[in-house]
Amino acid sequence: MALRKIVLKNDEVLRKKCKPVEVFDEKLGILLDDMAETMYKANGVGLAAPQVGILRRVAVVDVGEGLLELVNAEIIKEKGSQRDVEGCLSCPNEWGYVVRPNEIIVRGQDRTGKHIQLKLEEFFARAVCHELDHLDGKLFIDKVDEFVDPKDLEK
Ligand code: NI
Repeated sequence: MALRKIVLKNDEVLRKKCKPVEVFDEKLGILLDDMAETMYKANGVGLAAPQVGILRRVAVVDVGEGLLELVNAEIIKEKGSQRDVEGCLSCPNEWGYVVRPNEIIVRGQDRTGKHIQLKLEEFFARAVCHELDHLDGKLFIDKVDEFVDPKDLEK
């Protein structure tokens, strides 16, 4: 495994739409391993492939319930709403409130190409929505309704 460089918010790569993964090979496994390592090292709860410069529909999330690897994932159902503070490894020191669905059903594939479907709620749902936005070239700062001073978050 290897750490990858996380690109920052003004990088064009973060504004592009990702292509689906078509080949489930060793290279994909290495990308997923590297992304997880990079996310954990940076103390993040999620990382999307464009954040390491790869325009493919790949993301990793770990909100404390174990590592979730998502390939070609899409949200197929949303329910309710929640509003809470988000940040992003590509936008250091920026925090703000974003409204997200409270419950989602996400459908995608694992690293072997096997189809998966999950029902997620609350913070887990938020993290997946945030990462899947990255795959469409969207950043959380576009959706913030109120930015927060990081100092106010340290309690
Ligand atoms: Ni992000």
